[in-house]
Amino acid sequence: MEIERNLNSYAQMVRWFSPHLLVLAAYRDTVARIFGEFADQRGIQHVADPIPTDEELKKKFCNRYDYSGEAGGSTPYWVDFAADLGDGFDSTYSVAYLLAADKLHPEQARTTGGIRGIKGLAGSEPLEHGRLLILSGDEVYPWPTHEDYELKTFKPYAMALSEPAIDPQTGRLPPASRHVFAIPGNHDWYDGLNAFDDQFCRARAGTGGGMRFGDWETRQHRSSFAIKLPHNWWIWGADIQLNDLLDPGQLSYFRAVAEQMGPEDRFILCTAEPSWYALGTPAERFARQNLNGLIEAPIRRGAKLCGIFSGDWHHYSRYNESQALGNMNLITAGGAGAYIHGTYHLKRKLDFEWVGKTLEFRLDRKLEPSGSDTEPPKQTTANACYPSKATSYRLALGNWLFPFRNFGFCLAVGIVYWLLTWTFATLRIDFWLEVPKDQQITRGLIQTPQAVRECLEPTQRPQQQRTRSNVATGDVKSCLLDPGPERNGYRPFNGTGRIEDWTLQLIDFYIADIKAATSFKQMADNTGYLFLKCVHLLLLGMINSVGAALFLFGIWFAFFAITQSKYRGKRGLASRVVVATLHHGTHLLFMWGLYCAFAYFNNTWLERHLDTLAGTSASAAAPTLLLAPVPFWVSFIYPFEMVLIGGTLGGLIFGLYLMVTYIFGKVNCDWLFSSQRLDGYRCFLRMKFEPDKLTIYPIRLDAVPPRTGWRWRRNPGPREPLVEPISPLKPRLIEGPIVIRPDEVRNIART
Ligand SMILES: [Fe+2]
Repeated sequence: MEIERNLNSYAQMVRWFSPHLLVLAAYRDTVARIFGEFADQRGIQHVADPIPTDEELKKKFCNRYDYSGEAGGSTPYWVDFAADLGDGFDSTYSVAYLLAADKLHPEQARTTGGIRGIKGLAGSEPLEHGRLLILSGDEVYPWPTHEDYELKTFKPYAMALSEPAIDPQTGRLPPASRHVFAIPGNHDWYDGLNAFDDQFCRARAGTGGGMRFGDWETRQHRSSFAIKLPHNWWIWGADIQLNDLLDPGQLSYFRAVAEQMGPEDRFILCTAEPSWYALGTPAERFARQNLNGLIEAPIRRGAKLCGIFSGDWHHYSRYNESQALGNMNLITAGGAGAYIHGTYHLKRKLDFEWVGKTLEFRLDRKLEPSGSDTEPPKQTTANACYPSKATSYRLALGNWLFPFRNFGFCLAVGIVYWLLTWTFATLRIDFWLEVPKDQQITRGLIQTPQAVRECLEPTQRPQQQRTRSNVATGDVKSCLLDPGPERNGYRPFNGTGRIEDWTLQLIDFYIADIKAATSFKQMADNTGYLFLKCVHLLLLGMINSVGAALFLFGIWFAFFAITQSKYRGKRGLASRVVVATLHHGTHLLFMWGLYCAFAYFNNTWLERHLDTLAGTSASAAAPTLLLAPVPFWVSFIYPFEMVLIGGTLGGLIFGLYLMVTYIFGKVNCDWLFSSQRLDGYRCFLRMKFEPDKLTIYPIRLDAVPPRTGWRWRRNPGPREPLVEPISPLKPRLIEGPIVIRPDEVRNIART
């Protein structure tokens, strides 16, 4: 694998809100679901890698990932767990660098190999690197192409732990010192699992090995696996595909493995999605079904499930149940590279149906490090999550920066603003307008269509050539010349004209009214009147044009389609309709407000200045400095104003919408945080398997170096990192360590 020496050639964080990516995401998701349904790669794997029927061969097959002989006696066996990687280089490489390091030292230790001692980890014993690395879903972003796997995942890992020296005797690379097992997440499934299968399941080709990158190597044959560890521990990795369901082939595989297990065995289950987060959503049924389907067989044989670990959500959380199950932990740790997700929305407790029984899992059981290796960590009532809820809240508030982080998306919003306002502004409608009786029509109609100006002041308007042909209308002229009878101090005008012209008249009258107003109440009344009349104009536009109405409804529907609700059924539907309508209405309000401002500005101040620039006294045929007539420039400039300024405002409204719905509704977490593309707040798990216990060290890294914070090492040796941080990385313990003793775990078999 060739490593490019230019760090800038490595990936930046994915821009999820770039219009190009949004369109591709919708396309990929649809195609992947179709492929998933009609050509499930797992079925193909099952056929290509069948479970032998012969008992001896079956036993061998189920034990093909057997590491049980690698640690005997009481020697601990180390395994690392990471998920959601292969995004920006800085974040992915930071975690790879920590995983690759030979040892991670306790807090008191001096900085070693560009890594400080783990803050919060007491004692003198370092944490050994994992012999195995479990990647629990989403190994690359945004799509699983061969190129992206190589550039975003394999190369950073190969740079963090380079290849060993060639064995002079064989002339080949020595075997890899680290083995990698991966389960696919939804992002790995976006090509129907083809690239993942090619890269991670190479062992199925019968070459005796898997994909090699640096000193890591994949070993698996399928997208799911059961690994036998020393001390009767097992790790199971299940692939739930995009449809959140386990296929029969995979279930057969795990049942066959379960047949090899007995009361002395204990196992942890790794999945690509935390099914416990699906509680209360339509996916809940699948989540329960999957869990039951997987754990029932081994539990019936007396094996103990000692924890379920997952990625998918890019944060750390641990839900614990200790009353019925002794000590059962549901851990999410998807912080190995992708943008961070907040934890503010996480529930304090989950009522999870566990093999037929409803149990209460709690988040607020954080284990505070004791600061001493002789004392166990103290259980507190703080939430066992990272980043903390308070930090997540603060990060969510930062989404007012949405327009600055998602410029392309804002431009797309601006184009929609422009097209929508243009569609409505050019519609011709019958309208009713009331003018205060003491208002001079000529004063109020300074910017009315040229035809009206000609009619009212024929001798004072020399530039008839500037008449915009599409606004000249006899109807408006006649209505303004012939107002209806005065009523309540107002003179009414009826007529036909473009919405743009009526809007300009309204604004003229409004400005005149505001100038003449003597009280705040009058100003408020006038503003309310302007608002109602603008709404009236929009409604008339919708009535007059099916196309415009469909355009507006289409946008409403798009808002409705993306609106999330934490409720289900009719309540969920009603809340989505209300939220989508409010969101849509807010955009419309600001969009039309901006339109009014631009239209008025362009037709008054701008037109006057362009007139001056063009030379108003010049003859119609004479060329001007502007090269085109003034009305052309007035119309030409509007799309740019709306796309740039309207798009920024629209982006801001969208960013605030995500913020508000996340903070108050606990929804839109993924959109809110993917729009921020934060590369800090990393996390992964280091696990120590011993005969009587499993110790889990959840490790965090608050900040990762920027691209300029890395440097190439001079003459790196074999199995050493090629690139190192200029300032040391500062890992910390999130909580714990968490100790799980199989003796205290009680599994309940379904009755
Ligand atoms: Fe993910």
